[in-house]
Amino acid sequence: MIYMADTADLEELRKLYSFFPLEGVTTNPTILLHSGYKLSVAIEGIQELVGTGMVHVQMISGESDDMVREAKKYRSYFDFGDNFYAKIPVTANGYRAMRILKDAGINVTATAIFTQQQALVAMKAGADFVAPYVSRLDNISSHGIEVVGDIVENIALYGLNGKVLAASFKTVDQIYRVSMAGAHSATIGPELLHQLIKHPMTDIGVKQFEIDAEGLYDIEF
Ligand code: E4P
Repeated sequence: MIYMADTADLEELRKLYSFFPLEGVTTNPTILLHSGYKLSVAIEGIQELVGTGMVHVQMISGESDDMVREAKKYRSYFDFGDNFYAKIPVTANGYRAMRILKDAGINVTATAIFTQQQALVAMKAGADFVAPYVSRLDNISSHGIEVVGDIVENIALYGLNGKVLAASFKTVDQIYRVSMAGAHSATIGPELLHQLIKHPMTDIGVKQFEIDAEGLYDIEF
C-alpha cells in the first residue's frame, strides 16, 4: 500500500513527513483553497517536502488542450521531473487529455471516479493511477469499497498497468476496507493519517513499559 497525504497544509505535511512513510501528496482546487496559500507557494512547499516522492496536482481547465498546456506549464514552472502527476477528471475532454499527456511522457492520475467503467476507460487512455472517491460514493448510498474492489479485480483480470489511488475518506474503517480490497494506494487527509496509527492499547502498553523501565537501566543510552 502506497500512502499519500491529501493536503496542501504545509505545516501539517512537515509534521507528517517527519514520521509517516508517505510516498506522495495529492491536491485538488478545494484542498489548495483551504490551505490558504497561493498556488505557487503551496506547490513549491509540497515539492520541497516530498523530495523524490509523487506530487499529484489537479488540472482545472475544461478543454483537453488547455489541460495539456496546464500540465506542461506545471512541469516547467516547478522544474518537476517524473514525480509529477497531472490529475485529470474523467470527462470526455479529460480522457482525450490523458491520451495526449501519456504520448508526451507525462504521468496521469484520473480523478473524480465513481464507477468501475470510468476507471477502466481511464486506464485504457493511459492513466497511471485511478482515483475512486470512497466517501462521496458512500454518502449517496452507493458502495465506495465495492467500486474499489471491482477496479482492483479488473486490473488483475486484464493485466493493466494502472494502480488504484483510493481517495475521499472520512473514516479509518474505510481505509482498512480499501486496504483489504487490494487498493494499491490511498490518499488520506492529515487528521485520518494521525488516527490511523493510533490505538489506546498501544498507549497503555507503552506507558507500562516506561513505568517498568524506571530504575532498571544501569547503562547510559
Ligand atoms: C483526491 O485526489 C481527491 O480529490 C480527494 O480525496 C477528494 O476528497 P473529498 O471527497 O473529501 O473532497
